[in-house]
Amino acid sequence: MKLTTVSAVQLLAAVAFLQPASGASNSSSKAPTLPLSTDSTFNFDFLIPLGLALTGGSDISPVLSVANNVAAGNMTSYYYEFYKLANYTKKQAEDPVNAYDPINVRDTWFSTSNYFRRADFLIHQNWSNPDILTLWAEQTSAFNKAIAALPVPGKRIRLPAKKGNFTVEAIWYGASTNKTAKLPTLVVGNGFDAAQEDSYHNFCAPAVLRGWNCITYEGPGQNTVRRYQDVGFIPNWEDVGIPVVDWLYETKSDVVDKDRLAILGNSFGALLNLRVAAFDPRIKAVVAIDGIWDFYTSAIAPIPADLVPLFEAGKQQEFDSKMLEARDTNQLSTTAAWGLDQGLWSFYTHSPFEFLTKAKEFEVSDFVKNITVPVFIGNAEFDVFVAGQPARLKQALGELGTLHAFNGSAGYHCQTGATQEMVRAFFAWLNKTFPKPVKQS
Ligand SMILES: *[C@@H]1O[C@H](CO)[C@@H](O)[C@H](O)[C@H]1NC(C)=O
Ligand SMILES: *[C@@H]1O[C@H](CO)[C@@H](O)[C@H](O)[C@H]1NC(C)=O
Ligand SMILES: *[C@@H]1O[C@H](CO)[C@@H](O)[C@H](O)[C@H]1NC(C)=O
Ligand SMILES: *[C@@H]1O[C@H](CO)[C@@H](O)[C@H](O)[C@H]1NC(C)=O
Ligand SMILES: *[C@@H]1O[C@H](CO)[C@@H](O)[C@H](O)[C@H]1NC(C)=O
Ligand SMILES: *[C@@H]1O[C@H](CO)[C@@H](O)[C@H](O)[C@H]1NC(C)=O
Ligand SMILES: *[C@@H]1O[C@H](CO)[C@@H](O)[C@H](O)[C@H]1NC(C)=O
Ligand SMILES: *[C@@H]1O[C@H](CO)[C@@H](O)[C@H](O)[C@H]1NC(C)=O
Ligand SMILES: *[C@@H]1O[C@H](CO)[C@@H](O)[C@H](O)[C@H]1NC(C)=O
Repeated sequence: MKLTTVSAVQLLAAVAFLQPASGASNSSSKAPTLPLSTDSTFNFDFLIPLGLALTGGSDISPVLSVANNVAAGNMTSYYYEFYKLANYTKKQAEDPVNAYDPINVRDTWFSTSNYFRRADFLIHQNWSNPDILTLWAEQTSAFNKAIAALPVPGKRIRLPAKKGNFTVEAIWYGASTNKTAKLPTLVVGNGFDAAQEDSYHNFCAPAVLRGWNCITYEGPGQNTVRRYQDVGFIPNWEDVGIPVVDWLYETKSDVVDKDRLAILGNSFGALLNLRVAAFDPRIKAVVAIDGIWDFYTSAIAPIPADLVPLFEAGKQQEFDSKMLEARDTNQLSTTAAWGLDQGLWSFYTHSPFEFLTKAKEFEVSDFVKNITVPVFIGNAEFDVFVAGQPARLKQALGELGTLHAFNGSAGYHCQTGATQEMVRAFFAWLNKTFPKPVKQS
């Protein structure tokens, strides 16, 4: 059965069915927002760019127009329509008329960058597709022009890992030009798919507005490191996050308030960044958007129920050939097809079996006892990716965990499309959690 046009309700039911004990989410039966596609995955994939509009990363009607033109479930169509919009917006950004004002410059380049990222989002099935590199070069170049036009320009940084053969790619956003004002600082790491450029809009722009410094970073498996260094995800994420904290201590100690240093993990990144906090006592609080307990449960959920026993029985060859055939003949739901494409690409393997096997190495239970700082745990009502997992994380953390319900229209995975409610909630929590700033002389 082809599942590309199932409704959000059917998809939720299917996922709940596949995750009997830990995963069942008891959402109301009504989708929380007006659907932008009959394909629930595409609906979500249109909410992503809309959510970035709040901080200048897109414009509403152009995105809705793309949604109007994209054929439900057709990934090529999604790529093509966003590519067209990116090209169109890039022309506006390059228009000399636009250059008179840094606000015009950054708005048009931020939107251009976002639309190029969206064009790339669903095309990772064929690793040789040259667009994987050309679209990224476009989004990067556009983004660099935008952050150069910020009141305090953003700055790209490369940090060679001390353990492991890779270089961490980061972007620093100072909140002030005052070289002696120590400010609270937020470190932001993504997960399975989002880019650190998305994180500027979702987390760092709101942070800087509140007087927080912010730094985003990417490691193995994530957009820059996967593309330019050919490395897939690694479980020992402390080797990725600790160099970032080292850099803050070594080069930004005059402007970072060390008592108010928080780390935020987005999506699968919540797990990765909880792990950094478990290994690095310099981090004083964690924001998990949203709570996640083990990655395998999320990775196996969209796999067709009749193929799961093959994986569980260890039949690698049979499982791989059936999975890849289902993908090639378009038999998978959009969530499963995209999840497989992105999983293989980001874990750097052509074997679905190996991807799912590696997924088992990512579990909070491995290090939860070493977490000793407060954790904000987002709990989204309609989250089909980590359904049930936030409560489990809260249970394991006990009093260190604060479970925050994001219901209704803020209830999509990572509060997508409700950026404002998300950042309001966790910044209010951080303000309550952190000590009063020390008076500086
Ligand atoms: C889920 O919600 C429905 C309707 O509100 C209710 O009847 C049902 O008992 C709930 N199921 C669980 C497992 O909580
Ligand atoms: C998907 O969209 C592309 C680009 O618009 C189009 O060329 C292709 O025919 C569509 N595929 C199907 C199966 O409709
Ligand atoms: C966007 O512009 C590039 C370069 O000019 C061109 O190669 C590409 O085909 C355009 N994409 C679309 C969808 O029009
Ligand atoms: C993958 O992309 C490359 C480069 O465009 C192309 O030559 C190749 O045929 C594609 N492979 C498949 C299976 O479509
Ligand atoms: C810079 O920050 C320090 C420490 O908070 C403060 O004392 C000083 O007045 C600030 N300088 C300016 C120019 O605002
Ligand atoms: C490290 O990675 C680079 C490129 O990704 C590769 O050329 C080099 O051989 C690797 N070195 C080791 C020691 O694995
Ligand atoms: C985790 O905590 C245990 C003691 O509970 C300690 O032995 C171990 O070294 C800690 N690991 C890390 C990475 O801090
Ligand atoms: C959000 O939903 C949860 C679970 O359905 C419920 O317990 C909670 O009261 C709701 N919170 C708000 C603020 O509506
Ligand atoms: C945050 O909390 C402190 C108390 O620790 C308070 O002084 C401050 O005004 C609060 N608000 C903001 C925006 O920082």
